[in-house]
Amino acid sequence: MNEVSKKPRAIWGSKIAFILAATGSAIGLGNIWRFPMMVGRYGGAVFVLVYVLAVALIGFTVMLAELTIGRHTQKNPVGAFERIKPGTAWKAIGYLGVVTAVAILSYYAVIAGWAIGYVFKTAGGAFRDLGGAEAAAASASRAFDSFVADPLLVLVLLMGMIGMTAHIVSRGVREGIERWSKILMPLLFVIVVILAVRALTLPGARAGVSFYLKPDFSKLSGTVILFAVGQAFFSLSLGLGTMLTYGSYIRKSDNLVSSAAWVSFSDFLIAFLAGIIIFPTLFAIPGIAPEEGPALVFKVLPLIFSKIPLGQMFGLLFFLLLILAALTSTISILEVPVAYLVDEKKWSRRRAAWLVGGLAFLLGVPSALSSGGSALFTRLKIQDRMDFAFGSVSLAVGALLIAVFTGYIWKAKNAAQEIRLGAPRFRLEKAWSLAIKFLAPAVILIILIFKILKG
Ligand code: PHE
Repeated sequence: MNEVSKKPRAIWGSKIAFILAATGSAIGLGNIWRFPMMVGRYGGAVFVLVYVLAVALIGFTVMLAELTIGRHTQKNPVGAFERIKPGTAWKAIGYLGVVTAVAILSYYAVIAGWAIGYVFKTAGGAFRDLGGAEAAAASASRAFDSFVADPLLVLVLLMGMIGMTAHIVSRGVREGIERWSKILMPLLFVIVVILAVRALTLPGARAGVSFYLKPDFSKLSGTVILFAVGQAFFSLSLGLGTMLTYGSYIRKSDNLVSSAAWVSFSDFLIAFLAGIIIFPTLFAIPGIAPEEGPALVFKVLPLIFSKIPLGQMFGLLFFLLLILAALTSTISILEVPVAYLVDEKKWSRRRAAWLVGGLAFLLGVPSALSSGGSALFTRLKIQDRMDFAFGSVSLAVGALLIAVFTGYIWKAKNAAQEIRLGAPRFRLEKAWSLAIKFLAPAVILIILIFKILKG
């Protein structure tokens, strides 16, 4: 046994420290990069509407379940299920989470690497003069396409992102995660609001606002629902055991219900505002399609920076904060396999963080090279496929299993008992029990079956 495993398990310094760290996990590229991409691809405002419902009804429900399992067991995702139902296959949920975490980290860090690259590009004045109207969108697009096609550069940035993550995770929960989240998330919020206001006041912003907020119900489909629910899990860091792991560090006296509500709401708010930046800008300065995909926000953001006083400074600050937002998310993703290896396999934190980080880097190479760096990987759309398989499907499967486990195996009333330790009244108990037993499993099952049938 090494010295790490003998130490008592770390606990968050306070409720607010936990909330900030959980918000830090939730808020990241999922809000700024993935949400607008999904809105653009899958129906605009109708997607937004389904997303809101998915966050409020299903995301919140599953988040409360994860936090509760974590706090009750004070364990990593594998150990937690083992503790509640020893000797059963339910701990497979934990293994699924560990694998999904490594896979998501691998391509997520690629996108975060792009943000690092954009810090340097913005600082170097690459977007200072984009030219007028159509020319602006075209030059922002070109700048992006040639940047991500440089294989060496994207790999170095990927390595940098994973290296920073592994470094922070190897130093432990308190010193690492708490400190970063505390100061920087509010600043990100302020910048996002400023950019959103500017985007709304661009001439021609109207068309973008209606694309984003005026639902066209003829675009509603199974696919839209599938991706909106999947996006809710991704953005709220659910389905792989992140919130479970963070929950395991919460004190018994803290209120899990208000914590889950706060994290869900603030996460939603940032994503919503990101859409307010992207779509009005995209329609006001034509040339980039809403369906653009992973490149969308990287092509559109420089346009808004070019339309605001001190745009270069705002751009620089924005990308710096985006990296930090991504970092508080990658930390929480890496924390899942690391907590497992430290708790169950008695590895040192350091060894776990660096070895899993190394694995994620290797796994991330094909994704990194799939935006032009390698013709083969680009043709196979590796990164997009990874995001679909792990960021949408795997998280939905994980969330389904967590809901079923909580509702029927552990039983909603036992979970409610744990919740009541810090929330004696728990007025939502009835509604939450129904949601975790029926609504969440039914909706997730239907979208997964729909997807399998549609192929
Ligand atoms: N929620 C994070 C984001 O939106 C990503 C994430 C997914 C983090 C899954 C942890 C677990 O950027």
